[in-house]
Amino acid sequence: MSHEHLDKSFETIAIHAGNTADPLTGAVVPPIYQVSTYKQDGVGGLRGGYEYSRSANPTRTALEENLAALEGGVRGLAFASGLAAEDCLLRTLLAPGDHVVIPNDAYGGTFRLFAKVVSRWGVEWSVADTSDPASVRAAVTDRTKAIWVETPSNPLLGITDIAAVAAVAKDAGAKLVVDNTFASPYLQQPLALGADVVVHSLTKYMGGHSDVVGGALVTNSAELGEELAYHQNAMGAVAGPFDSWLVLRGIKTLPVRMDRHSENAGKIAEMLTRHPKVSEVLYPGLPEHPGHEVAAKQMRAFGGMVSFRVTGGEQEAVDLCARTKVFTLGESLGGVESLIEHPGRMTHASVAGSALEVPGDLVRLSVGIENVDDLLADLQQALG
Ligand SMILES: Cc1ncc(COP(=O)(O)O)c(C=O)c1O
Repeated sequence: MSHEHLDKSFETIAIHAGNTADPLTGAVVPPIYQVSTYKQDGVGGLRGGYEYSRSANPTRTALEENLAALEGGVRGLAFASGLAAEDCLLRTLLAPGDHVVIPNDAYGGTFRLFAKVVSRWGVEWSVADTSDPASVRAAVTDRTKAIWVETPSNPLLGITDIAAVAAVAKDAGAKLVVDNTFASPYLQQPLALGADVVVHSLTKYMGGHSDVVGGALVTNSAELGEELAYHQNAMGAVAGPFDSWLVLRGIKTLPVRMDRHSENAGKIAEMLTRHPKVSEVLYPGLPEHPGHEVAAKQMRAFGGMVSFRVTGGEQEAVDLCARTKVFTLGESLGGVESLIEHPGRMTHASVAGSALEVPGDLVRLSVGIENVDDLLADLQQALG
């Protein structure tokens, strides 16, 4: 695959990296190599380096090259889901007796992976407020091997100063992992700010159309990239060829989608701050957001996710989610269509009773790229 586009700007890389014309036909879009195995010219005589599609598949390679280029890393790896990527990363970085610092606000499934799965293998974890580097430093022990950050965080839209926490990780000799799902590499580049590994749920903004589940890891260390690739093959939760193709297609419009998501979300957040039935709006683009300055420093724009709390309590939050007509009530995020959900009973039900529990009066919006006036009117009618 060609690397000739990698000195270009983000929009150009998004469209071209990994997307070389098919050498056989000239097709300008990489074919879906829906194949499990490859003919060998004599034992070990591989034509294109491919032998079996769990180890590598050309459509997945195209996506992995694209992902590495977008995040400014040297190695990208695509998985069957975001959680499959996280699982591979944790089992590559951590061994029994190791310790990891996790954020006090994160996707519920990520917390569940630490609390219910990885902890069973003797890995210890503690929770820190990653928006405060001192809290992260205080949580570090002499066995800490990784610090996990999600910024902006799901669902409270907390902001972590990636460069500041990277300095803490470096002092501790731990790897800094940043879940970049909410921002996407168009809005935020964690590796350039000192992170060691970037995690993605490709299901969200990268795919962008609510039609595929996928995950990714990107690192700027060739050595760690090799170890991760070894585990990806050994564990086997790879992205299939069609899923890889869908994400590769989605990424081509990532910059224009993220610009519109951010623009629409900013207008919606601003409207919500003035609504009498809303007690608090959580959006890093608002000047009063505690992470606004850090977000303005490390992000190109503030993204499409907005959370807010209602004055009427939990039942009002639940009822509101059922009253919207343009916003669809559903889990997930990052698609072109707007979604609304109640984190406490939906995406974050698995953190109930933990340090990550979310308020019952919280509503989360994934603001889509529809006409913003239709979105504003829908929320206004639903709020009443
Ligand atoms: C921030 C974040 N990270 C990771 C994941 C997990 O990704 P997946 O659902 O693709 O396994 C999600 C899913 O909602 C998420 O929101």
